[in-house]
Order: sequence, then C-alpha cells, then structure tokens
Amino acid sequence: MSDVIFEIKTEDLESGLRGFPVGYCNTSKVDPTKGLFYVEKAIKDLAQRSPEDVIYLLYNGKEGSPEELKKFNEEIASRSVCSPKTLEAIRRLPREGHPMALFCAAILVAGMIEGEDDYKEDCLNLIAKIPQISAAVINHHAGWGDGAPSNPELGYMENFTNMLNVPNKNSEQLAKIFRLFDVLHFDHGGGNLSTFVGKAIASGLEDMYGSISGAMAALAGPRHGRANQDSLEFVKALLKEVGEDVTAEDLDKVLRKKLDNKEIIFGFGHAVLRVEDTRATVLYDKAQKAYPNHPYVKITKLLREVAPKILSENPKISDPNPNVDAISGTLLSAAGFEYPEYFTVLFGLSRTVGIAIQIMWERLYAREGKGLPIVRPKYIYKPRD
Ligand code: MLT
Repeated sequence: MSDVIFEIKTEDLESGLRGFPVGYCNTSKVDPTKGLFYVEKAIKDLAQRSPEDVIYLLYNGKEGSPEELKKFNEEIASRSVCSPKTLEAIRRLPREGHPMALFCAAILVAGMIEGEDDYKEDCLNLIAKIPQISAAVINHHAGWGDGAPSNPELGYMENFTNMLNVPNKNSEQLAKIFRLFDVLHFDHGGGNLSTFVGKAIASGLEDMYGSISGAMAALAGPRHGRANQDSLEFVKALLKEVGEDVTAEDLDKVLRKKLDNKEIIFGFGHAVLRVEDTRATVLYDKAQKAYPNHPYVKITKLLREVAPKILSENPKISDPNPNVDAISGTLLSAAGFEYPEYFTVLFGLSRTVGIAIQIMWERLYAREGKGLPIVRPKYIYKPRD
C-alpha cells in the first residue's frame, strides 16, 4: 500500500500548485523555519565558500576532497570559453526590451551553436559558459562594448567580473559581492517557478539549452526573479521620499499609508518561508559590515525592523519577513553595481547551475536511470460563467 502524502481539495485548484508535492529534489531543500539547505548544509555555512566548491557540492551531492575539487575546477575552466560564433551572434541580437529577453535568446543561440544534445555534457558546459554568456548579454544590452576575453584562471565569478565592462568598476570589491550573490542563488528546491518550468520543458526531452532558456523566461517575471529589480527600485523611491535619516516611527507611518493605498512593500514574504530568508540574513550581515553608511543599506536596515511588524498585523499575510530580494539589490548597488535592470540576469547566471543539475538528474538518473516521464497534469473542465 502506498502512503497518502497529500490531499487536494477543490479550493486548492486555483492556488498555483502551492505546496503540492510533485517529486523529489536531491540538490537542495527549503525549510519554512530553517531556510535553505544545499544538500544537507545550511546556506549560512556555505555563503563564504567559493562558487566552484558549492557547484561541486550541488553537482555531486557531497563535498569534494581537495583533489576532487581541483579536478572539477579544471574541468569547469576547460569548458568555460564560448565559441566566437556564439559571442558574435549575441552581439547581433536586438537591444530593445528587458535584458532577460536577451538572456533567454542568448542561451538558445548558444545551444544552437554549441549544444551537444547530451544532458550531462550540456549541463557542465552551460554551467561553465554561463558567466561569459551573462557578461556578453549585459555588455551588449548596456552598450558597454566588448568585454575582456574569458580567463577562467581568475576564478568563476572573478572571471565574470573581469568580462563585465561596468563603468568605473572596483573589480575586487565587486567580485566579492558577485561571488556571494552567486552562491546564495544557485538553487532553491525543486518547486520555484523557474526550476519547475525548466524541468517540465526538459520532460518533453527538449535539450538543456532550450529548457534553461524557458526556465529563464519564467525567472524574468516580477513575481519571481525580477522581484530583485523591483525591490531595489522600491528602496530608491522610498529613500527619495523619506530621506536617509528617517526614524523608525516616521517610516512606520509612511509604510502604513502605502498599504492603505494598496501599494506593495517589496522584498517581504515568501511562498514557503515563515521566518526571515536565511539568504537575506547573510546579505544583511555583509551589508552592515562592508557598507554600514551607504544610504540604501541604512534604509533597508530600517525596513527590516519596521515592515515585518506592520505586515504581521494582517492575518492574511502568512509571511511578513524579508526575503532575499529585500537586500540583494542594495548590496550590489553599494558594491558599485547600481544597475537594477541587470539584477535578474545575475540571478539567472546563478540559478542556471541548480536548474541544469536538477534537469540532468531527472533526465539521466531518476527512476533507476529511466528518467522521469513527461509532465502532464490534469485540468478539470469548467464552463465559463
Ligand atoms: C527563489 O529563490 O527561487 C525564490 O525565493 C522563489 C521561490 O523559492 O519560490
């Protein structure tokens, strides 16, 4: 007899599958009160590790020995240079519209030129090449000119920073924050929209690049990945409105007025979490240590104190706490990357890792190597009113 693990009621049907168990995930889990874990490790204990080491952990499901890590780093580095044809094709793409549209197109183009139609090879290649694809997309969209050639010896995110032509960059400072941002966004269980969509596309046996491109289109929406852009824009507008020396009392009044006017307090609440997002906690600590006097850092700190108290008064809000987007854009800006429209591309650069690994697993290893069947849920016919 199989165990019954979930009961679906009629009222659950238009809930975005919220909380429906639909499969297994072996890369990470999101615990409502303990936050994010990669394999069995809490994100706060991994945050200072190198992206390469954490990719190894997610890819292999276990920590690597120094020799294994060295070999894996060399493997990723050896795959990390895009074909000149891919970079040329990215430079020919239109620059109108949001950079995430360009990012999705660039991943498809890379697949057309460099895809091997092999989930394992494409997983490793895409993880290795995504820093250069992302840098090429941002440089092209922003009109910053061609970036430096890929030099994987610098390190995964140091190489990305070097390829990115951001004006007046302080490479050392920026690379530190990009590394941290990258590690924190690699994976978030199996059910977040972009991961779910990527795996659903791959279940029809679309290749890795097409599946990741579709996943990135899912990430581009303001309810998902683009929330980091919207949150920083909210912080900037709020700062303009109240000034950096605003008191907690005054901010309380301003936020209440916004809520009365049905405006959104961006960066708070999560579908699964019921405490402060542990990724946000890491970023608040970093912002406080590195940039305590930056105006965005000061206002986000105050928002962290004030907003949850107000939001928790509303019984309809199940999670009034800050999520990762409440602070990620502030920290990126304080480190010298104040370009909110590219924040979701940075999220995509990172999340490609987790999604690609989950897809590879579901296609090649799940169900004793048979792979998972095509995703095909049922919709119940309901005539229009
Ligand atoms: C994520 O990191 O994907 C977001 O927190 C959204 C989610 O988990 O649903």
